[in-house]
Amino acid sequence: MNAENEKWIAAVASADYVKNGMLVGLGSGSTAAFMIAELGKRVAGGLIMKGIPSSDATAKLAKQAGISLISLDDAGTMDINIDGADEFDPKFQLIKGGGGALLREKILAHNSRFNIIIADSGKKVDRLGKFKLPVETIPFATEIIISELHNMDLKPQLRMKNNEVYKTDENNCIIDVDIFQKDDLQELNNLLIQIPGVVETGFFLTSTDIILMGQGNKVVT
Ligand code: 5RP
Repeated sequence: MNAENEKWIAAVASADYVKNGMLVGLGSGSTAAFMIAELGKRVAGGLIMKGIPSSDATAKLAKQAGISLISLDDAGTMDINIDGADEFDPKFQLIKGGGGALLREKILAHNSRFNIIIADSGKKVDRLGKFKLPVETIPFATEIIISELHNMDLKPQLRMKNNEVYKTDENNCIIDVDIFQKDDLQELNNLLIQIPGVVETGFFLTSTDIILMGQGNKVVT
């Protein structure tokens, strides 16, 4: 079974958690796109729900799928939030933000009663860090933060797209860093967050309740 199929079956399984009347945080990325398509089908079939999108791209997909959207302000606390991940470890710690939506994704995860991660089996790792950790920074401070991250031996790389500095939906930059040699991820996260100009990191260390992983043609919970 390929990764696309594993993403799809995990996404379909996550839709079973969405019940009538729920406010649902909608993650970003290719796995979340399968979930949005499945929820769209269920809405067409009579499911009543409202979505809170974690990115402009997700908002567009959800509208195309026929899902009603509301703002975070109007939603307040969500019933559940369903999102993908770039890596997860046996302690349910994640790296997210490969698609650049980490800031809004973390806000949704924080404001949701229940957080579901959907993933293909390639996302499961024994130790986080083969995937570079995204660190979101405000443009004004990005160059000086890169110097600081060099000094922390994190091999920072400014994210680029089409030969230009990549910008998030919040018009911030992303610096991808190498955390593979780091043992205390919570301590590292605290250090990164304390740097003025760092807005958020792609560490999701404590928010996940359930991971639905496609493995072959089965979903492992
Ligand atoms: C976007 C994310 C995504 O959840 C993560 O990149 C996984 O994406 P995909 O499902 O396409 O592998 O964090 O910011």
